[in-house]
Amino acid sequence: MRRFEGKVALVTGAALGMGRATARRFAAEGAKVCVVDILKAGVEETAAMIRAEGGEAFACVADISQESENERMADETVARYGGLDAVDLNAAMLGEHAPFFESTVAHYDRIVSVNQRGCFLGMRAVGRVMRPGGAVVVMSSTAGILGHPTNPAYSASKHAVIGLVRSAAPAFGERGLRINVVCPGGVNTRMHTPEPLDDPIVPLQDLPPVDFRGIATPQHIAELVLFLCSSGAGFITGAVHTIDGGGTCAFNIPLH
Ligand SMILES: NC(=O)c1ccc[n+]([C@@H]2O[C@H](COP(=O)([O-])OP(=O)(O)OC[C@H]3O[C@@H](n4cnc5c(N)ncnc54)[C@H](O)[C@@H]3O)[C@@H](O)[C@H]2O)c1
Repeated sequence: MRRFEGKVALVTGAALGMGRATARRFAAEGAKVCVVDILKAGVEETAAMIRAEGGEAFACVADISQESENERMADETVARYGGLDAVDLNAAMLGEHAPFFESTVAHYDRIVSVNQRGCFLGMRAVGRVMRPGGAVVVMSSTAGILGHPTNPAYSASKHAVIGLVRSAAPAFGERGLRINVVCPGGVNTRMHTPEPLDDPIVPLQDLPPVDFRGIATPQHIAELVLFLCSSGAGFITGAVHTIDGGGTCAFNIPLH
């Protein structure tokens, strides 16, 4: 049985990378999907891919750093598909790397306004319209657990969304909604490598096996997001889920 038959999903940052993979997996499991991104061509391509694969999707071009655009994406989804059940607030930016004393205020403000404030706005906009029983995932990073010496703003923004989700979980619970954080390590996307490999969606038994402290595929992350939004995760909320091939499980020191 498909886990999201009759459900409606929304994924931000769905023009590329793990957002695109997650949107395709939601659609393959029966959801109608609103795919959101600031990149018009990319998000339209994702919606077209989903339709070519037999799914249902529409593209919504929006900048998640703007309050009104978050509200529009949520309202358009409900107007078009009649409700909203599963949300992956995945969009974010990395910006330029620079050590702490060389990082600029402009960079800090932009990263915080997209990655941190954008998640706050997205959580409020979708939580307002979601149907009871629904679930939200907010994308953090292992840079939300450990520092990032050459991108302090990114790390701070990813730490902040963990605090936001933990703080919001009781209010979401009062509405019959769950909300969780996912913290990937390195993932093979444009954010991580200049020319990411073309990662197809594969049957679960063909997902690459664990590469200890290695790089995940976008689908590895998508599968965790789908699980957290599914009824099998019905008692999981306000929690932080690391998916990093063991990257943060221990100090990186030789065993002897
Ligand atoms: N790739 C990694 O190694 C890695 C590791 C840990 C966490 N993450 C996080 O995972 C998520 C997905 O990253 P990815 O690797 O797929 O990156 P990506 O760059 O491939 O995709 C990010 C998407 O977000 C969109 N986006 C950026 N700013 C936006 C805005 N203001 N409004 C709307 N859309 C916007 C981009 O256009 C892009 O399509 C991000 O939250 C990222 O911080 C990535």
